[in-house]
Amino acid sequence: RIGCVSAFQGVCGVWWWWMFAITTLRRCALLSFFQHRVSGMALCPMYFDYNATTTIHPEVSKAMLPFITEHFGNPSSGHIYGQITKNAVEKARSQVAALLNCKAQEVVFLSGGTESINYALRGAASIQRKRNLGNHIITSQIEHIAVLETCKYLETQGFEVTYLPVDEFGMISEDNFRRSLTDQTVLCSIMHANNEIGTIQPIHRFVQIAKHHSSNILFHTDASQSVGKIETRVDQIGVDLLTIAGHKLYAPKGVGALYVRSGVQLSKLIFGAHNHESGQRSGTENVILVVGLGQAAELAHRNQKQITLSLKRNRDLLHSTIQHHLGSHKDILKLNGHSIHRLPNTLNISFRNINGTELLDRLSKDIAASCGSACHSDEVHISHVLLAIQLPTEFALGTLRLSCGTPTTEDEVLRCGRSIA
Ligand SMILES: Cc1ncc(COP(=O)(O)O)c(C=O)c1O
Repeated sequence: RIGCVSAFQGVCGVWWWWMFAITTLRRCALLSFFQHRVSGMALCPMYFDYNATTTIHPEVSKAMLPFITEHFGNPSSGHIYGQITKNAVEKARSQVAALLNCKAQEVVFLSGGTESINYALRGAASIQRKRNLGNHIITSQIEHIAVLETCKYLETQGFEVTYLPVDEFGMISEDNFRRSLTDQTVLCSIMHANNEIGTIQPIHRFVQIAKHHSSNILFHTDASQSVGKIETRVDQIGVDLLTIAGHKLYAPKGVGALYVRSGVQLSKLIFGAHNHESGQRSGTENVILVVGLGQAAELAHRNQKQITLSLKRNRDLLHSTIQHHLGSHKDILKLNGHSIHRLPNTLNISFRNINGTELLDRLSKDIAASCGSACHSDEVHISHVLLAIQLPTEFALGTLRLSCGTPTTEDEVLRCGRSIA
């Protein structure tokens, strides 16, 4: 009996120890998870990546809230619930139109920059071919991947694409552009401002040259990065098609707009009901996000001059702070992009013989930004934009893109500049 009891006690003892060990381990894991979260939250690196995406402006979230909590109607419904959301979508259309200085009916809402580019390029290329006007497209080597990939796809469909080179500042030459036009050219797509180096192209000049060559040519510009940062008016630029991405101007992600000049027809990309977006983009409108984009457009329109000025002030302060703290090592620093024709918020800089990825990793507790090259399984990948401007490798590998936003403070700029240097 004594043997049985001690065996029982032994098993219980082992069981008790196991339970103790498992509970302790669980607690430790939980604790370390929370410690990680808490320290992660407390660290909150300063955000200098506004070209990747922006925060949502408080007035934008405020405008969207009633359409999350209260107004749920389908804009296509004839009753009052539908009328409320329909009116909200139309108000947003007018707000975007005011920012671009175009007519409200020339604005089509869709899911963002990428869809807008796809619709513009594929829709225009296909309609031009149906009309037997030609099969040649002109774009540039520094376009966003959404344009480059769409052009590659169009090449598989029998289109010929010219990818124009840029100079060391990221500018396309007018002469090159003129020379690349042929009697087959039906579509041009040149970005307004580059997302990496910020260079702004003189789109109105390219439009003039293209239209002078042939009035049949359709001109699209990807203005995802310029709208909201600088004045971008379609009447001044003269394009037929212009892309906006909501999350670059303090609206949410997943919403965008395409300006389609009155009279321009595009082949449809998304099929379905004919009553949405004047038959141009089927699918029940994303009322909440569209309202957000409208409000963001109104804010940008109302405050454009101050926004541009304050972004520029912070960008230049950031640059001079880094230069100042580098002191006698200043010559390892190189500014990329055009010194004047550049987005007011974008500072793209290279440090000679410095690894940009490692630098950002070391600064990750202080600063969130982007670099111009990335390491993928021991292979270094330099961005297509830096390759196009022929930045020497010893600089390209040490490239950082620092982009300010309207919430960026002077104090953040000074601290960021000091940390980087
Ligand atoms: C210049 C440019 N075009 C297009 C896009 C794509 O926009 P979205 O993210 O809304 O699809 C971006 C986004 O990074 C961009 O910077």
